[in-house]
Formats: sequence, structure tokens, C-alpha cells
Amino acid sequence: TKIFAYGIRDDEKPALHAWEAAHPEIEVDFTGELLTPETAALATGANGAVVYQQLDYTRETITALAAAGVKSLSLRNVGTDNIDFDAAREFSFNISNVPVYSPNAIAEHSIIQMSRLLRRTKPLDAKIANHDLRWAPTIGREMRMQTVGVIGTGHIGRVAINILKGFGAKVIAFDPFQNEQVKAEGLYVDSLDELYAQADVITLYVPGVAANHHMINSESIAKMKDGVVIVNCSRGNLVDIDAIIAGLDSGKISDFAMDVYENEVGLFNEDWSGKEFPDAKIADLIARPNVLVTPHTAFYTTKAVEEMVHQSFDAAVAFAAGQTPETVVEY
Ligand code: COI
Repeated sequence: TKIFAYGIRDDEKPALHAWEAAHPEIEVDFTGELLTPETAALATGANGAVVYQQLDYTRETITALAAAGVKSLSLRNVGTDNIDFDAAREFSFNISNVPVYSPNAIAEHSIIQMSRLLRRTKPLDAKIANHDLRWAPTIGREMRMQTVGVIGTGHIGRVAINILKGFGAKVIAFDPFQNEQVKAEGLYVDSLDELYAQADVITLYVPGVAANHHMINSESIAKMKDGVVIVNCSRGNLVDIDAIIAGLDSGKISDFAMDVYENEVGLFNEDWSGKEFPDAKIADLIARPNVLVTPHTAFYTTKAVEEMVHQSFDAAVAFAAGQTPETVVEY
């Protein structure tokens, strides 16, 4: 059995080599390059491809991989919103993802950003760097005084709820697919509108599927409290960024943290030092004292990277053996 992995980064190599050492019967080959129509042939002779990227898995890419004789695609990440499933269906691809690599990685980052916004650490740090050690006007707000609206109560949302409870925040939640424990705790409100009306802070943990596209838009923002704080560490397409910018300009939104951006491909995880950002909106957002931008790093922890590598390789091997891994993506 041979598994070919695309887009392997240096920080993944320890986990990759540990997996190889534990599976001497499996031949492993890899490249730092991403899977594209041009690189698909590199996987020729492999039983499965392990991939990880934010580029789209287009019809062209999937067709090229099938032409190389590889019809099993094991994502090292959770999101599957960038796969052309119609094309995958045509070639009967087996697809897996890593739905639970480390929910804590994303949940922790989102709540850290939330608390940084509430304590105004960005303008405070800027003042300190400028030798200004005065308190005012950089006064903070406390977590326990906030009603936090958690949208999405999957693995990540539920860890976020537990962290928020530790801070003493009042948590309300919405998810069309209710979780028994969250329900038993009485956290669910009946509708998103109700959550928008009650929440001082709103944080998102839902997938970037078509039904959720731009769910945070000018209409939904109008339903929120004045001075709402919004955190998005899920998918860029969940928010209409123009509506967010308008809300920040009017003061309707007091603070915003984003780890994801609709146009992040080719922008995030690139070095722009000494250069201008190619995107005027990101430049504007990064310059604001009440906006925190991180470049899709919520997931990026040692534990998460290890799990992503190990679980995706396990799934690829299972497909190669004609088995259905637990992490199969049904589509
Ligand atoms: C995911 O796991 O879906 C992520 O968002 C992480 C990644 C693709 C950078």
C-alpha cells in the first residue's frame, strides 16, 4: 500500500515521520506542493492521496487525480466546502476529513480573541509600545457581564461554551441540530433572531456551507444590539465583510475578530512584510484598533497538526484496504 501526501509543511514532518515509523508496511511519499491539475500525476501508483489546503478541489483537479489512478482523497482538515462533490461523485471518490483534530485549538483561539477585544489589548499594546503607560481611555469589559451568543454547538462550539462558562459569561446558543447536553443545560434560544436580540457578543462555529453563506449581513447585523462584538473563527464566507465594515464605521459593531476571510486564498499564510497588502479591505481591517485579524491560525497548534496528519493517514490506509474509516465524508 502506498499513500501520497500533498502540501506537507516542515511543522508536519515530525508527525508524518512518527506515523511512518509506526506503519513500516505502508509506503509513504510526499511533496510540499499542493494538489492541482498540474501536480496530480505525482500521486501515480499510490492507493490514496492525503491533502490539506485551502485551494479549491475543482473538477479539473479531481479529474486529473482520477486520471493518475487515485480515487481516494483524505483531507487533513475538517472543512469540505472547497470540494466539487459532483465531480467526486462521477469518479466515485472515497473522501475523508478530520472532523475532530482538536476542537480546543479553535475554541481557545476564538475566546482568547474575544477576551482581547473586551480588554482592548490591541490599543493598549500600541500605547505601551509608544511609552504611554496611562490607563484611560483603554477601559475593558468583563466576560461575566456579557451575554455571549454561540452560533453552532458542534465539537468546537461546545468547547467554547465550557471555556465561556469558566469566565462566568451568560451563554445562549443556537443550532438547528441541537446537542442533548446543551439542550439539557437550557442554553438554546429558539431562533437566530432571538440570539441577535439578546447577545452582547456573537461567536460563530458553523460550517461554510451554501445555506450559511453571508448569514452575517446588513439585515442580521441590524437585528443585533448596538455595540455588538463579533468573532468569526469558522469560515470567511459566513460574513458579508462589507456589512461588517459598515457596522464598524457606524459603531453598530464595537469590535470584530476574524481568523478567516472570504478572499483569504493567496493572502493568508503568505509573507507580505515590506509589501503592501494586495487587498484594500484587509489592510483597512488590520489598521483598526478594534479589529483583530489572524491569518487562519486558530487551528494551528502542535496537537492539532499531529492529529490532522495521523487521522488522515489512518483514513487513507482504511480506504486502501477497502474499509470505511470513521472519518469518511458521506456526500
Ligand atoms: C479546517 O480544518 O477546515 C481549517 O479551517 C484549517 C485549515 C484548512 C487551515
